[in-house]
Amino acid sequence: MGDMKAFERECEAFFRPLWPGEDKILVFGDGNSDHPPIMLIGEAPGEQETLKRRPFVGKAGKNLDEFLDLMGMERETLYVSNVVKIRPTSLGKTGRVRNRAPSKEEIALFLPFLMKEIDLVKPQSIVTLGNVPLKALMGPKATVGELHGRWHTASNGLPLFALYHPAAIIYRRELKEVYAQDVLALKSSLTIETSK
Ligand code: URA
Repeated sequence: MGDMKAFERECEAFFRPLWPGEDKILVFGDGNSDHPPIMLIGEAPGEQETLKRRPFVGKAGKNLDEFLDLMGMERETLYVSNVVKIRPTSLGKTGRVRNRAPSKEEIALFLPFLMKEIDLVKPQSIVTLGNVPLKALMGPKATVGELHGRWHTASNGLPLFALYHPAAIIYRRELKEVYAQDVLALKSSLTIETSK
């Protein structure tokens, strides 16, 4: 889509000068960018995403496959993106590069671009994975613990369904069943919500 390419160039032009000399890779959204039934929004890309320049591949891609299986959907049906488009990293004690959660400043810098991306893609609904996209679209008081598994209205007026971040399920096994139930609730309500 022409507009998406222009959007990506605009992002590059804004962010590139912020990290002079660093080869930071921006990982843009991918999939159906023409009014998809769902725009799935994660936190930020990790190592594999940065290498492949595609959101939710590698370990996170497995989680996405599970989601798609439960939904009975193909990845190409959806548009998949992240709030923050660079991989937030820190150096571990042994000097290894590690993922970290995106900072408030990074989220604030990327938020206007996310809003623009949503305007371009015009999804029928938004599904957030974890607190980062949920707070970005519903304000700082929103928490996934309280809001998961139900529809809400995002700051831009779109229907928003909150899910736990798939990584949370790895650390908290008790969430696995909750997550699966939430996805099934999303599936059974989707036709109703998106026909609004
Ligand atoms: N990969 C992504 O692209 N986003 C996430 O939030 C997690 C893994």
